[in-house]
Amino acid sequence: MNVLIAFGSTEGQTRKIARHIETKLTAEGHAVTVMDCGETSKTPALSGFDAVIVAGSVHNKRHQDSVNSFAFVERAHLEAMPGAFISVSLSIIAKDGEAEARQYVDDFIAETGWTPKATHLAAGAVRYLEYDFFKEFTVKQLVLEGEAVPDKGTGNPEYTDWAALDAFVASFLSDAAA
Ligand SMILES: Cc1cc2nc3c(=O)[nH]c(=O)nc-3n(C[C@H](O)[C@H](O)[C@H](O)COP(=O)(O)O)c2cc1C
Repeated sequence: MNVLIAFGSTEGQTRKIARHIETKLTAEGHAVTVMDCGETSKTPALSGFDAVIVAGSVHNKRHQDSVNSFAFVERAHLEAMPGAFISVSLSIIAKDGEAEARQYVDDFIAETGWTPKATHLAAGAVRYLEYDFFKEFTVKQLVLEGEAVPDKGTGNPEYTDWAALDAFVASFLSDAAA
């Protein structure tokens, strides 16, 4: 299949997720185009793809403007084809955080007008190496609400479940091909 992966990433974890999917799908024989919504103003024609995977991460309860804009502008095309949305956040690992993580996706759908055929809530990473004091405070105290996370000095603790991600993508593409 010819697959477009359109992503937005602020500290880099969603970029890593997009590249991971690209590597996996390419190895399986798919043709994959990866587009960083934050860097590309020229979107390839979606009619040239069999399926689209959009991925964005949450900061202060919202996905990247660039991802929202892409989905809003392309919503008519996206509605008419197999499209999946991967929402990357950290609430999902916080106690009782899943409802919050789902709300981010509901807000995305309400804002963009695109209802993805499939949605995956992926846990992101605490990217200490990319944070200043305020970002670190926001993540540890406001997003994770004091949840125990490895200390700074342990690098960038990563919570992404790669096997669950792979299973989601495989199931989505199998439905898309059917
Ligand atoms: C300043 C800041 C604000 C954040 N706000 C939220 C939030 O409101 N809800 C949430 O679940 N995660 C939040 N996160 C966690 C990110 O979604 C998570 O770190 C994700 O892996 C970032 O992906 P990226 O590296 O692709 O940008 C925030 C992270 C930062 C640094």
